[in-house]
This record gives sequence, structure tokens and C-alpha cells, in this order.
Amino acid sequence: MTQQTLNRRSLIKSSVALAAATTVPTGWAIAQAAKPLKVGLMLPYSGTFAQLGENITAGVELLLAEKGGKLGGREVQFIKLDDESKPELGPQNAERLVKRDNVDVLIGTVHSGVQMGIHKVVKESGTLTLIPNAGNVAVTRELCARNVFRTSFTNWQPAYAMGLALAKKGIKKASWMTWDYAAGNESAEGFKQGLEAGGGQFVSLLTVKFPETNFQPLLAQIQGLGVEAIGAFFSGGGAVQFVKDYAAAGIKVPLCGSGFLTEGTLQGQGAAAEGIETALHYGDGLDTPKNNAFRAAFKAKTSRDADVFAVQGYDAAQLLAIGLEAVKGNLEDDKALYAAMETTKIDSPRGSITMSPQHNVVQDIYLRKVTNGQNKIISTIAQQLADPGTGCKM
Ligand code: PHB
Repeated sequence: MTQQTLNRRSLIKSSVALAAATTVPTGWAIAQAAKPLKVGLMLPYSGTFAQLGENITAGVELLLAEKGGKLGGREVQFIKLDDESKPELGPQNAERLVKRDNVDVLIGTVHSGVQMGIHKVVKESGTLTLIPNAGNVAVTRELCARNVFRTSFTNWQPAYAMGLALAKKGIKKASWMTWDYAAGNESAEGFKQGLEAGGGQFVSLLTVKFPETNFQPLLAQIQGLGVEAIGAFFSGGGAVQFVKDYAAAGIKVPLCGSGFLTEGTLQGQGAAAEGIETALHYGDGLDTPKNNAFRAAFKAKTSRDADVFAVQGYDAAQLLAIGLEAVKGNLEDDKALYAAMETTKIDSPRGSITMSPQHNVVQDIYLRKVTNGQNKIISTIAQQLADPGTGCKM
């Protein structure tokens, strides 16, 4: 007999004994309290976003450890699934977790295309879902759902802020380079809107297929664009390669982007990343008690420095804990569960955050500059920025 079954059995026994002795709690409470909460972690553990999935997972585990291994009084059992950042496998992988493994909660994922597959499944099943990264706007705009919450960002948010920041510097013309999929195209749209709001001009969008890393065809065009800056969305292994190739090509046009371009990647990018400015809802050197404690705990657990992905995983678990504590582990009380999650103010390592009516994060966006191998925050571009959330009806 495993330790786990032993624990569960003795827990059931003691719950039954308790019920007999006190007559309350009865029925549901006993059955649920004795049952561990099944949490599916559908994340990339291989491919270009593998490190992102690892850091999100470690962030989730860290919060759970702080809570003594329980959420809303229930033990937590994780079921991990590597989604490989393959959109074509998204629906079947989500179905496996929801229908076969019967998870109570799904935490996932990183890639916007895979998120669409998850969304289709959980919108139908009603499974409580927390998005710890993927920024596709649809899931908190026209496809919003009462059981789906995002603790990261929309692709629009950091890119919009980057456009604003560039225009504020007096940059008049810029182009965007990215992978041709939702995150790339939606961040381009955000960048364009920010740039134009500040009086600048968006010249063009240049893309390669996801997850391709042959960037020479893009880089070769820069000279002819007549722009004063290039903005970019790449992330993970692809971002490491892009920034190195950009530097190696000796291009004089400054590079900027959504902060993922230099997030969790600086070790691999080395000197090639120095001086790059990006916009993101997190950065190095945020000197708050919450962030300092979080970074120390994350380092102790993983031997790595925390990054935005670790924060987003930690906050997904924070939000889940808030919901479960409000209903004492009873997920069936969904009205109270969602109300608690919707109205909370979370003390995140990134700063204070709230949920928009569409269940996306309202948060500060920082301008950062890579300085001595760190994404040093230089200013706050937008305070408590909310995604427009257009078209959401809940
Ligand atoms: C996305 O696909 O939405 C995505 C992936 C990686 C990031 C950010 C967004 O770093």
C-alpha cells in the first residue's frame, strides 16, 4: 500500500468518525474533504517553451507548499501533461484531463493556440480553469467564460505599452517581427495601437512560422524598412536565438519588444541582450517584501532565478487558493467560488493585481532595460492597465 492510499484511508476513517460524533459536517463535506483536489497541469515540458512550463509548475508548487500542501482544506493531487506547445493536440489533451482523469481544476497553458483547444473543452465541461501564461485575447474577450480565469496578461497588454513607450521617446516609425500565430499577431496589433496612440506609425509586420528559428530572412529585410526601431515577440528558446542572431548581424536599428523577448532567457543571450528595452508586467529589482520573499523561496526550491512565468504560476495557485478557501473546498458552490475570485486583490510578486470583469489581470506594465544581465525596471509605462475585453458577455 502506498503512503498516499494509507493517508487517504485514515483520512476517510477519521472523517467518518468525526461525522458520527458530531453529526456535522455531513454528506458533501465529508466526501469532498476526504477527496484530494485533482489539478491538471497542462503545460509544455518539451520544445521551445519547456522552461516556461517548468517555471510555472514550480511557482504553483511553491504556493501549495506555503499553504501546507492543502487548498481550501483539501489535499492536492497534480496530474501533469506535456502539451508540447502543439495546437493540433490541444483539444485531445484537454479532453484526456477533463474526461478521463476527471480533474477538478485545470491549470494551463503557455501557447495561445493550445489554449484555444483547452478553451473549447472547458467551456463545455465547465471545469474551473486558470491560464498561467497564454495571452490570446479571445478567451477574455468574445469567448470569455465564467469558469476561466487568467493570471498572466493578454498579448495586447505588454505590446501596447511598448508601443506607447517608443512613441513617447519620439520614435516615429517601427515594424514588428514575430512568429505567425495568435500571440505574434495580437502582440503586433497591441504594439501598433500603442505606437499610434502616441503619434507614431506602424510600418509592417514580418513573420516566420512557429516555432521556426531561422531568422535570417527577417533580419535581411530590416535595412530596407526605413524604421527607427524593431519591436518583437519571441519567447523561450526562440527568443534566445533571435536576440543572438540580431546582435550577430550587426544591425544598428534598436530592438525592443514584449518583455518575453528577454525574460528567462538572459543567460543564454549573454552580451547580445544588453541594452534591449522591453515592456512587461514584471522585472528584476522590484524591491517589495512579497517579491523578495518569493524570489528567495523560488531560488531555494529550483536553484534558478524567478521570472515572470514563475510569478504567473504562483499567482494562478494564489487565485485558486482564494476561491477554494471561500467555499471550504466545495467547488460545487460555484457562485461563491467565482465571486471570491472575481473580487479579490492579490498581493503578487509583480505588485498588486485585480481581475477585470472578463477575468484577465489588471496590472502595472513596466519598461525594463537589460543591464548587466538583468531586466532592470526603469519606469512604469501604464498603471493598472486592463485589456479592452471587447465582446465579452458572461
Ligand atoms: C502565447 O502563445 O500566448 C505566449 C507564449 C509565450 C510567451 C507569451 C505568450 O512568453
